[in-house]
Amino acid sequence: LVLILDFGSQYTHLITRRVRQLGVLSLCVSGTAPLASLEGLRPRAVVLSGGPHSVHAPGAPSFPKGFLDFVSDAGAHVLGVCYGMQLLVQSLGGAVESGERQEYGKMDIEVTAGCSALYGGEAEVGKRQTVWMSHGDEVVRLPEGFEVVARSVQGAVAAIENREKRFYGLQYHPEVTHSPQGMETLRHFLFDVCGIKADWKMQDVLDEEIKTIQSMVGPDEHVICALSGGVDSTVAATLVHKAIGDRLHCVFVDNGLLRYKERERVMSTFESDLHLPVTCVDASEQFLSKLKGVKDPEQKRKIIGREFIAVFDDFAQKLEQNIGKRPEYLVQGTLYPDVIESCPPPGSGRTHSHTIKSHHNVGGLPKDMKLKLIEPLKLLFKDEVRKLGSILNVPDSFLKRHPFPGPGLAVRVLGDVTEGNALETLRQVDEIFVQAIKDAGLYDIIWQAFAVFLPVQTVGVQGDQRTHSNAVALRAITSEDGMTADWYYFEREFLGDVVNKICNNVRGINRVVQDITSKPPATVEWE
Ligand code: XMP
Repeated sequence: LVLILDFGSQYTHLITRRVRQLGVLSLCVSGTAPLASLEGLRPRAVVLSGGPHSVHAPGAPSFPKGFLDFVSDAGAHVLGVCYGMQLLVQSLGGAVESGERQEYGKMDIEVTAGCSALYGGEAEVGKRQTVWMSHGDEVVRLPEGFEVVARSVQGAVAAIENREKRFYGLQYHPEVTHSPQGMETLRHFLFDVCGIKADWKMQDVLDEEIKTIQSMVGPDEHVICALSGGVDSTVAATLVHKAIGDRLHCVFVDNGLLRYKERERVMSTFESDLHLPVTCVDASEQFLSKLKGVKDPEQKRKIIGREFIAVFDDFAQKLEQNIGKRPEYLVQGTLYPDVIESCPPPGSGRTHSHTIKSHHNVGGLPKDMKLKLIEPLKLLFKDEVRKLGSILNVPDSFLKRHPFPGPGLAVRVLGDVTEGNALETLRQVDEIFVQAIKDAGLYDIIWQAFAVFLPVQTVGVQGDQRTHSNAVALRAITSEDGMTADWYYFEREFLGDVVNKICNNVRGINRVVQDITSKPPATVEWE
């Protein structure tokens, strides 16, 4: 196990991911978490992350009291990165000062001690590599027993070590791609310095999770799960089903806001490919009647959240009548970023956003349900969930699906979703657009692509007649995580074909526009 202590750097998650990419389990905890919360963990290595502070700033975060004894007792190696290195130096009696020389961005460093295991143990002195720096302060005096093993070409301390005490430090960020040899350095640290083995495999994660669930859920106990049709809830349910079989009861709610043939498509995968016990509840009337006349997007979200809870509650009650007892557990597809987000380090600027992903992100669960949670994905990142899903034979078509918002097409029909034929029209346009993207082999490159129904009527001419019909917008974006996004540049011919197909096949549409706004300043959805 490698423990990452987070001091607020925007790259901390990246360190966690890089270590995992090297085949070693890593966990990220707040850098200031009390020592008691680390009890029982026997990390082979601890990485102190970077952070936005100066070690001299009032209230600058530091590791908990007794931390250095904890790592020493565990026999763990410590690697400080950027702020983490400066913190280590300061805590051990060295000096860090506000440098005249600030280093931000790409910088060349030179190895000064070729025998350092961080650089493979036999690098030439003077050997250069480009790294990514981001520091205003710099180390000006090393604690006793330390040696400088690399300097920036400007002379700043770039890497240090004290082999005997198992302390190492990098002033730069090895975890970012702008440090092209950064992965190599992390590899040397983990495998050569710490002697860790790359033995963290998805199959082991799966086997362990199954065992945990089997020992947690008693032989007469039942579990419920709401499937949204997305990757997380599907993989979570498939895993729990493997562990406890048909004592898992899933519900898929058709809220009338799904895409073209979505209910049939996902239900057939759930049943035929994954053999999940799923009840499909057609609640479209219930949702749409409550949404009638509602134009305000926040209001729409609230209504959808409330209705969803009502349907879920009803499902749980009926289930109780059928099986003669209350289900005790609820499966949620919480991911590791959600967990990390819930315990940010002080001063990081991140807030305690949520501890558990709320249902479909559109509402909470009924408070009186008192269900215990099973969150089998809570230590995994999205790409790891996809790998796990693939071991569980969840079809690729499912694992690679574009994200779809919990409130569904309600955020893509602007205004009243029940007005005229808006929902059905949007479904047809969306299907033509997304299918064309699939046919052109672009689906996997694009993060998300969809159509938006605009409550705007414009004049057109179709078949020698003037029409006064609705307009739709097409949106396709590339993104890493949906937090920022860029619009996708289609070939002229592709767009021409799609627009022709839409105007010739979908009644009530005579104008198509493309949204070419990035996020920010826009968001992904139009609401
Ligand atoms: P925005 O519009 O906020 O969307 O830029 C960012 C990403 O989140 C998706 N999204 C949602 N996902 N429940 C979800 O599960 C929601 O309520 C929701 N709203 C937006 C959106 O599709 C994009 O991928």
